[in-house]
Amino acid sequence: MAEVIIVPDQQAAGELAADTIFTLLARKDDAVLGLATGSTPLTTYTALAARVRSAGVDLSRVRGFALDEYVGLPVTHPQSYRAVITREVVEPLGLDPARVQVPDGDPSRIPHAGDAYEAAIRDAGGIDLQILGIGRTGHIGFNEPGSSLAGLTRVKTLTEQTRADNARFFSSPDDVPVHCITQGIGTILRAGHLLLLAFGDEKASAVAAAVEGPVSASSPGSAIQLHPHATVIVDEAAASRL
Ligand code: GLP
Repeated sequence: MAEVIIVPDQQAAGELAADTIFTLLARKDDAVLGLATGSTPLTTYTALAARVRSAGVDLSRVRGFALDEYVGLPVTHPQSYRAVITREVVEPLGLDPARVQVPDGDPSRIPHAGDAYEAAIRDAGGIDLQILGIGRTGHIGFNEPGSSLAGLTRVKTLTEQTRADNARFFSSPDDVPVHCITQGIGTILRAGHLLLLAFGDEKASAVAAAVEGPVSASSPGSAIQLHPHATVIVDEAAASRL
């Protein structure tokens, strides 16, 4: 059973999530963070960067692993998750870029990229805290409905709904890649602590299914119910169907 915390707005959610992450970083200077992209964690990263700056904490030993990446989008593309993670997380927090990994979406290396990513996470000692958003389809990472609850990092196909939702980041909807490489739900469940955030009416059904629905591959977010330490931070709109 996940712990659910309802806060007034995204700002408050970001502050609270940043507190939790900061506590971990203060205790463990080589902590391993699981990093999400999307608009949801932005207030968290901003609040965390402010905490880190004002406390003068050195994060040079912290490691990070992104949840997912588009396949076939060059890392130099501003919407590649490598570029997004660099811009929104690595630079503001002052992390060592060499210690932050993103799944390799280069088509020529795809056959081995999933196993290589799993090995890198294992070699780092596993992820201590995984930040998660949730898609309107209920996806976590890019694990769309129907994804195995035990799956590890691998290539998946995006749903049309997710491609349409992410089209806002691209100049044309046709530019949104069709495939992605994502940590599996099995990978996500191995993290020490899951911190899932969601905001707005459009996430209310996905949040209700994740927190209170049956645990099922049709609702990937419901896998958090299998985790012994999962925290869900939502605003009132996202909590409205609980
Ligand atoms: C994206 C990401 C997910 C993210 C979700 C929600 O496509 N792959 O990791 O949690 O969809 O996105 P947003 O936070 O922008 O609503």
